Amino acid sequence: MRTLQLLAGMAALALGLSVNADPLVDGDPEAGEAKSTACAACHGPDGNSTNPEWPKLAGQHARYTLKQLRAYKDGTRSDAVMAGQVQGLDDQDMKDLAVFYAIQTPQPGSADQELAEEGKRLYRGGNLETGVTACIACHGPSGEGIPTADYPMLSGQHAEYTITELKKYRDGERTTDRAAMMRDIAARMTDEEIRAVAEYIQGLY
Ligand code: HEC
Ligand code: HEC
Repeated sequence: MRTLQLLAGMAALALGLSVNADPLVDGDPEAGEAKSTACAACHGPDGNSTNPEWPKLAGQHARYTLKQLRAYKDGTRSDAVMAGQVQGLDDQDMKDLAVFYAIQTPQPGSADQELAEEGKRLYRGGNLETGVTACIACHGPSGEGIPTADYPMLSGQHAEYTITELKKYRDGERTTDRAAMMRDIAARMTDEEIRAVAEYIQGLY
């Protein structure tokens, strides 16, 4: 993976793009910080939101964040709150914001141990009977994801937000996942499994 990232960085350099915080996104984190004041009310000044309904953005891969902002803007990802937030942003604003959040330090969360144990089994082993793929395959052993493959970081995310998103994939309400990767997985998950894995993810770092 590192080799791939390095190659992507070198390609960006060869093209004369500036490589700042993230070799995959050509943004300016300082400009992003200045543009993030409106976002801070919900996502926190450093991307660590305190309200569990609002996702943490700190440390998230810039390319994933950029993709989501574009999706809110073109309506591919529908959310009444975020739709209003992105209307005034152009593509450069989104790139700047994405690299700003990518270099913020994520604050780890904590988890209920018993529920998290159950979630851990699913995260690491999947559910063979119902065909739930192990999350670890794409999101990594500590939830770090794979930036070049657009597999987002999940570590420390609020369980409440994670539950909301898994249910949106399950109901086909969120369709930003290429090849229905997450919709297919979430459709096989029970409410109990969703709750358990979300709890595990909240304490994962
Ligand atoms: C009023 C509260 C509020 C404000 C202000 C706000 N957001 Fe959000 N944001 C949310 C909520 C709620 C969600 C989850 C929506 C959903 O389920 O799709 C979200 C989701 C996101 C996501 C998706 C995260 C992920 O992991 O997929 C990104 C990226 C994001 N916001 C960036 C921003 C940026 C950048 C701004 C400022 C321009 C901003 N938000 C302003 C509430 C807010
Ligand atoms: C085959 C690869 C793959 C596997 C396996 C996988 N995911 Fe994902 N996951 C993705 C991709 C790709 C996305 C981003 C899709 C998008 O842009 O909406 C994603 C997004 C998510 C999100 C939304 C993150 C956010 O910030 O909004 C959650 C939550 C999630 N996955 C949880 C899980 C859980 C829990 C499992 C295991 C039960 C799992 N994933 C298994 C590829 C995978």
